[in-house]
Amino acid sequence: MIEDNRFEWSENLSVNNEKIDTQHKEIFKIIDQLSRAKPDYSENSRFAQILSAITEYGLSHLKEEEKFMAENGFPKLEEHKKVHKSYLYKVAMFNLKYSKTSESEVVGFLKNWWVNHIAKMDIQYRDYIESKKNNDPSPSDKP
Ligand code: FEO
Repeated sequence: MIEDNRFEWSENLSVNNEKIDTQHKEIFKIIDQLSRAKPDYSENSRFAQILSAITEYGLSHLKEEEKFMAENGFPKLEEHKKVHKSYLYKVAMFNLKYSKTSESEVVGFLKNWWVNHIAKMDIQYRDYIESKKNNDPSPSDKP
């Protein structure tokens, strides 16, 4: 059976880094699973388990990405870190107030946040690193 309306990563969201693209794809996959989990407010529901998985995976991705940006001298690192921090706070609140939050609100927030964040912010470090590469003289250009 063909399932439609999948929440999937697409090539236009690539940051030209295989490791980070793979992490983003995994995040989309977990959110897709979350959107398909049956609504159930019990603490051990599949929805709660997947929410916990996306929280942990997201945290580890954001930390790795911050390290990557720092290693590449990305000038907007602090601004980017603040946006990550506010995301983590929001997701922590969803976990804490799980029984009072609607599943559609959680899923809607996660889908919008990740698509917009990658398209508007993560793309900035991709462009910065690409422009640095293009402006660095290749070894053959050096005297
Ligand atoms: Fe891939 Fe800034 O999160």
